[in-house]
Amino acid sequence: PPGGAGAVTAAAPVVIVLAAGEGKRMRSATPKVLHRIAGRSLVGHVLEAAAAIEPAHLMVVVGHGRDEVAAHLDEVAPWVDTVVQADQRGTGHAVRLAVEALATAGALSDSPIVVLSGDTPLLTGETVSELLSRHVADDAAATLLSAELDDPGGYGRVVRDGDGWVDRIVEHRDADEATRAIHEINAGMYAFQPADLLPALGRLTTANDQGEEYLTDVIGLMRESGRPVAALRVPDSDEILGVNDRVQLAEAAALMRNRINRRWMLDGVSMLEPASTWIDVDVDLAADVTLLPQTSLLGPTSVASGARIGPGTTLSACEVGAEAEVRHTWAELAVIGAGAAVGPYSYLRPGTRIGDGAKVGAYVEMKNSSLGDGAKVPHLSYVGDAEIGEGTNIGAATIFVNYDGVEKHATVVGRYVRIGSDTMLVAPVTVGDGAYTAAGSVITDDVPPGAMAVGRAPQRTNPGWVARRRADSDSARAAAEALAQSPAPSEEENR
Ligand code: UD1
Ligand code: CA
Repeated sequence: PPGGAGAVTAAAPVVIVLAAGEGKRMRSATPKVLHRIAGRSLVGHVLEAAAAIEPAHLMVVVGHGRDEVAAHLDEVAPWVDTVVQADQRGTGHAVRLAVEALATAGALSDSPIVVLSGDTPLLTGETVSELLSRHVADDAAATLLSAELDDPGGYGRVVRDGDGWVDRIVEHRDADEATRAIHEINAGMYAFQPADLLPALGRLTTANDQGEEYLTDVIGLMRESGRPVAALRVPDSDEILGVNDRVQLAEAAALMRNRINRRWMLDGVSMLEPASTWIDVDVDLAADVTLLPQTSLLGPTSVASGARIGPGTTLSACEVGAEAEVRHTWAELAVIGAGAAVGPYSYLRPGTRIGDGAKVGAYVEMKNSSLGDGAKVPHLSYVGDAEIGEGTNIGAATIFVNYDGVEKHATVVGRYVRIGSDTMLVAPVTVGDGAYTAAGSVITDDVPPGAMAVGRAPQRTNPGWVARRRADSDSARAAAEALAQSPAPSEEENR
């Protein structure tokens, strides 16, 4: 029975997101809607989908963990308003509070009210848009999102009339055998006309198995008033997956991963093993990037064309230049230049900047340091609070001694420097352009450009020591055999 109160338009809708529930089955100290997948909270994903219909007002109903949830929303979506539902007395009660808050704020008009749930991260903006346009096209009092499920257990069932309009929704626990046999379920997402919703909310009762005000009961009440209620079936029921426990959290994360990976592959990114490749929503990848197995790209990471990342690599908030290669690496807030080579087994901490064509090799840790274009730290080093010029080579096992136990100090190494293996650069210290340090040096004083600095005790060799002090050992026997072949040089020659 279509027709009725006033023309429905899609302009300036209001969105209410329900997020007051405890999420008991998560067994978590963190409120359910703040759990994250693909680098964004569950409620953050829902707000992203809601943004597709450009809401004039967004009201989130908070309850359990409300301070934490409100603080999170302040950070990620400061345009959102919140209303507190101190006791969770049902979805109908939650929407009633939100509607009252919106009315008080003068935010209610004839525009539709869209109600979403904060724990359905896979909902897309396209589906929210479609729900709204279908609602407008049908001129309905309410339009709900439904899905056809093989196993509808637990969900509210959509009971339709002979003309295909929705007659009512019956919660699983309140449903009889025949109603439970219905496979079309209520996804818990709706578009409402305020003129129909407000009076119906006022008439909700708690006469049900849970003693709660069910939002779903407004449907039957609208029908009693002779108003039409429509349902839009989502073609992909994954979209309405609600997260109630950690198993569903992992399922949602995997579905989101597949969706994100598919999009990047269609945009020209190669993935050897999409199932072990995790890309956050804020990542940006160019065409012809290759991602090898067990790779995670987190936060606002960007990777330029031709770069190869992985296997076994995690990059968080990093920027990787074109044609760079990053293998078996963990990096956070680091910039890796074009054509640079990093890894295997490198650890780049915040503030690391690797120049174009530079190399960071195995078992190298860097922090708050820059490595010039074409410079190399190939093996087993710690580089902290350092500035290293272009073309410089840092010998194996060099340590930038930046911490005196109280304060951190900086080291500056110039261009085309050769730092000998196993050098300790005790900060604050400067090594000038083109200078050398001898292997094993402890450099405590500045080295001028072009100088060679040797900072170690001269070697002392005591011939025959093993024969005297470790007589009758395998070492002594090996030494005796070798000396019989070619006697050791005299003290004189050795000098
Ligand atoms: C609800 C629907 C059911 C539908 C299912 C889809 C009702 C009565 N039933 O059931 O038909 O199939 O969603 O997932 O609406 N919330 C509050 N305050 C409350 C109660 C709930 O904010 O007082 C929030 C929850 O945090 C959650 C959402 O509303 O985000 C849905 O609540 P939930 O208790 O999960 O509803 P279901 O029993 O799953
Ligand atoms: Ca639920």
